[in-house]
Amino acid sequence: MSADDDLEHMEGLEVSGCSRCPDLVESRRRIVNGTGPEDPDVLFVGEAPGEQEDEEGTPFVGRSGDVLDDVLGEYGLPRSDVRITNCVRCRPPENRDPTDEELANCRPHLEHEIDLVDPEVIVTLGKVPSQHLLGRDVAVTKEAGTVETVEIAGERHDVLVCVHPAATLYDRSQRETFEKTIEKAATIAGAEGGQSTFGDF
Ligand code: URA
Repeated sequence: MSADDDLEHMEGLEVSGCSRCPDLVESRRRIVNGTGPEDPDVLFVGEAPGEQEDEEGTPFVGRSGDVLDDVLGEYGLPRSDVRITNCVRCRPPENRDPTDEELANCRPHLEHEIDLVDPEVIVTLGKVPSQHLLGRDVAVTKEAGTVETVEIAGERHDVLVCVHPAATLYDRSQRETFEKTIEKAATIAGAEGGQSTFGDF
């Protein structure tokens, strides 16, 4: 497949009419593209849309999205200032993890989005996007808050590892880790109005 074939379903930042992953074509209601400004300082990358995201066509609008919105607001980085996307743009059946093949099929779309928006920092929400973009095993809870520079589509990008917001729903101790990481993203973005409670992290 040539690079052009890779992006045949993509116009600007939007993918439409893609049918590369047969299971996902079956399970999705719609393709969920990234949302937010086209020149953000911060790009959040999740795993794949869940049920509510699939229904509304917007990433992170379910319970995880509520946590994300809450904490973004606390640190002066409202959703309207950041871009939010996923490694895979179609909801996997029964919310299973995307397969390696599905991640690979959708990778050109993600790389093109990263290339076009060229953020100051990419924040990976959870294990799947962290491993996908860093290209190695990641112990997310241990590595949350760390920044690693990696080459994506020929350019170097800073990737800030973060726990998935859903992890804070099942394990309250993850909330602080999540908040510290968002605070760091806000600092990198130079956001104003956030409350610093953690100091250095
Ligand atoms: N979890 C994700 O990883 N992505 C979403 O869009 C929603 C929940």
